[in-house]
Amino acid sequence: MITLAISSLKGGVGKSTCAINLAFSLAKRGWKTLLVDADPQGSVGLSLSPSAQAYIGLYEIVASGVPFEQAALKTKLDTLKIVMAGKIPSQEISKWCASLQDGTRLAPFFKTAAEGGYDIVILDTPSGLHGPTEGILRSCTHVLVPQQCEPLALRSLMMTVDFLNQLQTENEEACSLVGVVLTMADPDVEDTKKIVEEIKRVLPPELVFQAMLPRDSAVIHASMKGMPLGLIRGGAPPPIALVFDQLAAELEAKLDLVVPPQSDEYVSLVV
Ligand SMILES: Nc1ncnc2c1ncn2[C@@H]1O[C@H](COP(=O)(O)OP(=O)(O)OP(=O)(O)O)[C@@H](O)[C@H]1O
Ligand SMILES: [Mg+2]
Repeated sequence: MITLAISSLKGGVGKSTCAINLAFSLAKRGWKTLLVDADPQGSVGLSLSPSAQAYIGLYEIVASGVPFEQAALKTKLDTLKIVMAGKIPSQEISKWCASLQDGTRLAPFFKTAAEGGYDIVILDTPSGLHGPTEGILRSCTHVLVPQQCEPLALRSLMMTVDFLNQLQTENEEACSLVGVVLTMADPDVEDTKKIVEEIKRVLPPELVFQAMLPRDSAVIHASMKGMPLGLIRGGAPPPIALVFDQLAAELEAKLDLVVPPQSDEYVSLVV
């Protein structure tokens, strides 16, 4: 089972947006996917449900031993379930975050998910590389880094890469960087092109996803409606929803998620 953290040193770069929509695209493509809100801020829940704060989630499973199946929420897709952040009492937040830091606390949770037959677990993490995010990076197999197209991006990206290299020096099996996805990009703006060129100069090209997420007001619309971009109705899906599908396809190849052979063959709708 793949455990993929969506993490970045910098905040507000599109991690939660990426986690939700990538999970939706992967599940739509048939992978049994678990989306986990590992950010006590609870952004995944807040983007998907007005009553998110009422849901139990990761906190209750890990800290109180609530059974996984009781806390994992069903979705419109049979292949996608969501574990929200949980109802973390404010006075417990720092204790909860500290408990995640060494990277061992989520092991039983991942074991249960693996026994449940999940192909991939996607974890939305808080920004930064310390506290719960450090622990999650220590315990996941892979990390995907969303990087906003702006001049500060490069500095924080290099710090992130150095940190991941350091984790791998300590432990060869530590999570590996599957790639960097550029977010809130405007491909027609000259500065964006320069930043993309610069990132491709300092990172091996295979670590930069071809899919580039444009700045698109559909993201805010989808968040207000509490849905992934791919569920927006009333006309064609917004272009950014298709970019998430492209990102999911690229990710499959990078993670060696093997597409079942029958997927290219004629599939009858009528059974
Ligand atoms: N491609 C996009 N186009 C337009 N707005 C976007 C895009 N991606 C994200 N946003 C908006 O930018 C804001 C930050 O996005 P998001 O919450 O996904 O970032 P984050 O990295 O998870 O933030 P945090 O570090 O606080 O967890 C949100 O208001 C979101 O709606
Ligand atoms: Mg977030």
